[in-house]
Amino acid sequence: MIVTIDGPAGSGKSTAARGLAKRLDFYFLDTGAMYRAVAWACTNNGVDPQDAEAAARVARELTISFQDDRVMADGTDVTEAIRTANVSQIASVVAMIPDVREELVQQQRRVAQGLKIVTEGRDQGTVVFPDADCKFFVTAAAEKRAERRHLELLEKHEDVPLEEILEQIKARDARDETREVSPLVAAQDASRIDTSSLATEDVLDVLENAVRKKMAQQQGVN
Ligand code: DC
Repeated sequence: MIVTIDGPAGSGKSTAARGLAKRLDFYFLDTGAMYRAVAWACTNNGVDPQDAEAAARVARELTISFQDDRVMADGTDVTEAIRTANVSQIASVVAMIPDVREELVQQQRRVAQGLKIVTEGRDQGTVVFPDADCKFFVTAAAEKRAERRHLELLEKHEDVPLEEILEQIKARDARDETREVSPLVAAQDASRIDTSSLATEDVLDVLENAVRKKMAQQQGVN
């Protein structure tokens, strides 16, 4: 069973996806972390993220794995390193490269095969798993998303001004929404959830109820 959760940066979809997987006892796949790992590897190897061919090679050669809550890239724990503002920007650049996307999409399909899984990203319900059992599109006002990211970064002792974060979020949204390959868009059959004024537990209740209802339908129970 595949549950997809897509949405823009800071919409709360990561928290929602992680929490939902926990409640359902499903696997969880953070596909943004995969783009971030490629961005990190480009920086680490002195590869220009604008160089599509070189970045695609990095994506193909990099071994990304998830161990519990840790993200590993070629055996290095990059969990914290991939969350900096710099890596965020570079990730949105490499995510525009068709060959990078193709490689990561293949990896995502391989990982999900045969699993009960919640997968989270931008294109999960539209491109990667068009036949997913449950699809959600999670959004929130840009200002709200900037506030959340600001707090997240503060917890990691990165004090980036709120206005700068808002600008970065808008720039990333624009790139994610207008890129030619897999732009950020809700699947037609996705349920939309605006988290601007919802508490995490309320979002999780909505998601969990929808998935459990679907599971019951699939098992022929009403
Ligand atoms: O969700 P995130 O902020 O960790 O994602 C990092 C970047 O990767 C962001 O610019 C969007 C991009 N991304 C993507 O293009 N497709 C995905 N499935 C997941 C993330």
